[in-house]
Amino acid sequence: MQDDEQRAFRPEPAAVAPQRRTADGLAFPAIGLGSLEARGSDGVAAVTSALGLGYRLLDTAFIYDNEGTVGRALRTAPVPRDDVVFSTKLPGRAHSADLALQYVEESLFRSGLDHLDLVLIHWPNPRIGLYTEAWRALVEARERGLTRMIGVSNFLPDHLDRLIDETGVAPAVNQIEVHPYFPQLDLQAENARRGILTEGWSPLGRGTDLLEHPVVRRIAEAHAVSPAQIVLAWSVTLGVIPLPRAADPSWQAENLDVFAIQLSEDEVAALSGLARPDGRVSGQDPRTHEEF
Ligand SMILES: NC(=O)c1ccc[n+]([C@@H]2O[C@H](COP(=O)([O-])OP(=O)(O)OC[C@H]3O[C@@H](n4cnc5c(N)ncnc54)[C@H](OP(=O)(O)O)[C@@H]3O)[C@@H](O)[C@H]2O)c1
Repeated sequence: MQDDEQRAFRPEPAAVAPQRRTADGLAFPAIGLGSLEARGSDGVAAVTSALGLGYRLLDTAFIYDNEGTVGRALRTAPVPRDDVVFSTKLPGRAHSADLALQYVEESLFRSGLDHLDLVLIHWPNPRIGLYTEAWRALVEARERGLTRMIGVSNFLPDHLDRLIDETGVAPAVNQIEVHPYFPQLDLQAENARRGILTEGWSPLGRGTDLLEHPVVRRIAEAHAVSPAQIVLAWSVTLGVIPLPRAADPSWQAENLDVFAIQLSEDEVAALSGLARPDGRVSGQDPRTHEEF
């Protein structure tokens, strides 16, 4: 790729996702692209479009069976590799020192990249109780240069404390379910207290009526933006890094264009007030949910 071509393709700086910083001072995009259903050439086209629009964080996982798709889009899009965080997740079946390193390497091979940027432990699987062993392997993967950053997903405060107490290494990120029906404000605060960035999965409340909720619609109309933009602006205002998934380029663009929306304290409180004890999109409680 010629430098000229890269420059020609690069969106205006204002359109590229703003950056946050990890506790180690590394740049980290303030919004990312979810990729749950992105596979094959349609998936490559969707991720390529998102990169062209300014997304710089790509969320995938070993169990999504699409690290190849997301990696291919990243390898072929005329976007500087170093500007992008390619994030994947270690499956529960690999919670042992040897297997974890093999699976990180397998993710690397599938992606076709020469390094990963972030590897998360996908779920703690506390009944099995081997997540600390998996974490030690991720620390080693980072030391070997297989990935630049390491983190966790769906970890509760006791899981975080066990990792930190036993290894002395805190995750850069904890990716958890966050949307107005299930805000997890306490867990967000627990992450922040430990210097851990919170990423939010299912930020649009996938499969629920969240985007039709009268409170969401009322606030969207007041700001002349879409319901999806309002719930993403709510995430961003709380300090969460949302990971909306969208295949449609116009939805991708809409979802990225949320950083100028100024919600009032009352509006943030009204959206957080939609929380329900059973608000999870698919009932996955990290205390009991198992993923392999
Ligand atoms: N760590 C974990 O355990 C975990 C669990 C779940 C998800 N995740 C990650 O989080 C990402 C996002 O979560 P999700 O995929 O569950 O759901 P989501 O992002 O909350 O919602 C995705 C749905 O919203 C639609 N959509 C996108 N933009 C829209 C807009 N502007 N207006 C209206 N509808 C819109 C999408 O349409 P299309 O289908 O047409 O694109 C899709 O059907 C995942 O893709 C995955 O990367 C992680």
